[in-house]
Amino acid sequence: MNPSTNSAPRWLLYGATGYTGVLIAEEAVRRGHKPVLAGRSREKLAPLAARLGLDLVAVGLDDARGLVSALDGLPLVVHAAGPFVHTSEPMVQACLSAGAHYLDITGEIPVFENTFRHDAEARGRGIVLMSGVGFDVVPTDCLARYVADKVPGAHELDLAIASDAQLSAGTTKSALEGLPSGGFVRRGGQLRPWPVGKGARRVRFSDKERSVMPIPWGDLETAWHSTGIPNITTYVAQPAAVAPLLRVTFPVLQRLLAVDAVRDRLSKLVEARVRGPDEALRQTGRCHVWAEARAPDGRRAAAGLETPEAYAFTAKATVLAVEQVLAGERRGAFTPAQAFGADFVLSIEGVRREDLAS
Ligand SMILES: NC(=O)c1ccc[n+]([C@@H]2O[C@H](COP(=O)([O-])OP(=O)(O)OC[C@H]3O[C@@H](n4cnc5c(N)ncnc54)[C@H](OP(=O)(O)O)[C@@H]3O)[C@@H](O)[C@H]2O)c1
Repeated sequence: MNPSTNSAPRWLLYGATGYTGVLIAEEAVRRGHKPVLAGRSREKLAPLAARLGLDLVAVGLDDARGLVSALDGLPLVVHAAGPFVHTSEPMVQACLSAGAHYLDITGEIPVFENTFRHDAEARGRGIVLMSGVGFDVVPTDCLARYVADKVPGAHELDLAIASDAQLSAGTTKSALEGLPSGGFVRRGGQLRPWPVGKGARRVRFSDKERSVMPIPWGDLETAWHSTGIPNITTYVAQPAAVAPLLRVTFPVLQRLLAVDAVRDRLSKLVEARVRGPDEALRQTGRCHVWAEARAPDGRRAAAGLETPEAYAFTAKATVLAVEQVLAGERRGAFTPAQAFGADFVLSIEGVRREDLAS
């Protein structure tokens, strides 16, 4: 977007004072937008709004009327307040009432499922609902679509992520919420439980080979929508020793984390101790993504992506997604790759894609 030829886009950024919300606000301003900063604490919003020269609105997610009135005259929300299993639905409802597009940066499978459940209402209301416009799932979703397009009729899709990124408190807390559900893969179009630590293997990313093990990324839902491939496994790179260790220890961990009081205690500890990557790490960090699609007759295609550090990527991808949705005509619930195509990820500064031997 060229700020000199367009009036500054105004939209609502909810959760603006979180680690990632601040990065999105800064990126939006850098690209000539004027988002209204929103969240539940005026006290936290005021210094950020003053620093960036933006308006603010303080409203809780439990205030349905307040949310709709905060959206008055605004065409779109970026929801950056997670864990989204607790925060997404009230904002989706507010967007449906107000007629505003809804984008979020979740990576949580139940949230993607819920967003897609509102597809018909979104079409009727003339809005876009799009979950996952951050690092999870833009690169994997776009690469899934890219390899799937090369193998028409593919029945299997594998996706893997390698990142040495440090996690923010919000990401760690969202992961804690998902851990009690355990592992999953998609088989025959259905999500199926999968023992954590089972199925470790080696994968050749664009820079080097790594050990990976299945873990349930949001792509188990989004890649199913973006590609229609019925058998999907999502992997994360880990030192080879981690998978066998988790096979033994995860069931105990899972039982512990299923206790609300244990999860709440850990969340408090995370809030107090965990800080996201600093500016230097965000500038220098790199992530790698790998995807392979396979057809029953043996045709296959693999490709890799190298991207900027995950939180830096999320801020850039989110603001570009806002621009695409505001400029587009589509209505309903979409994944990023469904709406914008496999090459969307290449519009993000610092991303490289490469075909790989499979
Ligand atoms: N897709 C991706 O790749 C990606 C990338 C980055 C982050 N994320 C996700 O984005 C979320 C935020 O991450 P973060 O790093 O920014 O976390 P964070 O620093 O902990 O910030 C969380 C933000 O959400 C707000 N919030 C949480 N629960 C709320 C509620 N019930 N009502 C209103 N506001 C609420 C917090 O407000 P208070 O300060 O008032 O508590 C804070 O502004 C996490 O779920 C994370 O997993 C995803």
